[in-house]
Amino acid sequence: MRKPIIAGNWKMNMTPAESVVLSQGISNRYGRGGDEVDVVLFPPAIDLRSVITVLDFDRSRVEVGAQNVHWEPSGAFTGEISIPMLKDVGCTWCIVGHSERREMFGETDVQVNRKVRALVEAGMKPIVCVGESLSVREAEQAESFVCDQVRAALAGLEPEEAAACCIAYEPIWAIGTGRTATPEQAEAMAAAIRATVRDLVGDKTADGMRILYGGSMKPANAEAFLACEDIDGGLIGGAALDAEDFVDLVKTAM
Ligand code: G3P
Repeated sequence: MRKPIIAGNWKMNMTPAESVVLSQGISNRYGRGGDEVDVVLFPPAIDLRSVITVLDFDRSRVEVGAQNVHWEPSGAFTGEISIPMLKDVGCTWCIVGHSERREMFGETDVQVNRKVRALVEAGMKPIVCVGESLSVREAEQAESFVCDQVRAALAGLEPEEAAACCIAYEPIWAIGTGRTATPEQAEAMAAAIRATVRDLVGDKTADGMRILYGGSMKPANAEAFLACEDIDGGLIGGAALDAEDFVDLVKTAM
């Protein structure tokens, strides 16, 4: 049985002051919740320390991660953030390869893999984002496209290294649109992803890997996705910006 995970990707939507209010709202509603679900917040980098401070003060079970990272530990990479910096403030997770970074900032499969390997080596937990565009889906190439992304992201990892990762299937055409994949589509893709992981690193890691759905998941539609055999949680955007909605999603996953 895989432990569910509900993760909130705040994207570029919270100032440090706003992030304190939102994390307090979530912590007040769930912070010391049980151990049934892993809950992770992904604030903008500038907010990380303030969010972690709020949650630590509340002795919350909620973990915090970054939305991106550079694979080098230090150096002349203006504007970038390193893994040692994230660990220093208390981050335990990191999103890698979000479609918005792949589309708008040209993040490649090779860069995604370098980030995944550096994070795992540093003892952090990557959430690897994969997902197809509408044109790829309409061309009936979605499964091969997504599974190629999975293979590229996990290339070179040993089974126990890959076991530190989660994979988030986020069809690009469902992100921020209010239009979700159907649960059947999401389950079919999650099963294909799990089969690819099994082929890459074996049964134990494949059976234990948590695969999330992301793309307009809301309290009103989450139950159908979370009931799917191969879907173990959600990577939430818009609904994560409202403490009540986000905690409703956590409770649905319990
Ligand atoms: O990373 C999660 C995000 O891409 C999903 O966004 O607003 O469709 O829930 P949203």
